[in-house]
Amino acid sequence: MREHPFSLGPRLRQCAAFVRPGSRMADIGTDHGYLPVWLTRRGVCPHAIGMDINAGPLARARETADTYRAADLVELRLSDGLAALKRDEVDDIVIAGMGGELIAAILGQTPWVQEETLRFILQPMSHPEKLRAFLYENGFALLREETVLDGGRLYTVMLAAFTGHVLSPSLEECYLGQLGESTSPHTPAYLTRQAALLTKRKAGLSPEESERIDHVIQTLREKAAVLELQQKEASL
Ligand SMILES: C[S@@+](CC[C@H](N)C(=O)[O-])C[C@H]1O[C@@H](n2cnc3c(N)ncnc32)[C@H](O)[C@@H]1O
Repeated sequence: MREHPFSLGPRLRQCAAFVRPGSRMADIGTDHGYLPVWLTRRGVCPHAIGMDINAGPLARARETADTYRAADLVELRLSDGLAALKRDEVDDIVIAGMGGELIAAILGQTPWVQEETLRFILQPMSHPEKLRAFLYENGFALLREETVLDGGRLYTVMLAAFTGHVLSPSLEECYLGQLGESTSPHTPAYLTRQAALLTKRKAGLSPEESERIDHVIQTLREKAAVLELQQKEASL
């Protein structure tokens, strides 16, 4: 049994940084259970719920909770998405380490997420643009977004809340999200990488679609250059 919680890697640390101190948090797709154990043992959250669709990951989370003396602080549940969670049990919901489409599907399956006091910390491993499109089109706002470099890979972490304002975002807005406001030193590289991915995806598109994608690529590259310049000036 260990007294002190381990340190989190940059990706999960950014997720933790968006969780409000004192909030009751739930970690959907908790796997190893690092996030709820870390947040409760550090005293950021008084209580946390870790949920996973598979029994194997939940057993790993139980081991982490036992090892770090968090068994009384972290409740573990078998659950498909948010199915085993009730609205009045939680304030901040983390869904990290899954594809953007799966995260959107999990939110879309649960009507009670449309509540303004809840916060969502979302970390898509792929298709962040599809997750942003879902959020904007379903009345959620992106409050903040930050990028991290973890194990040589770039990730984005989003903080979202329901506002009820339904938008019809442009493709540029779906690819950029709130990253234009990001303060992370990794954001220019992240945007440049997204532009490179889009360049690859262009193959096989119609000329009209290809032109739309070219505009997005240009927007991402321009924003990366602006942020890089701002960061250089700030460091002088
Ligand atoms: C790659 S792990 C991510 C673990 C952790 N959240 C992180 O970011 O490091 C994805 C986890 O999500 C779980 N998962 C996949 N689909 C799920 C769903 N619909 N509901 C709950 N958990 C799910 C998997 O069993 C797996 O443990």
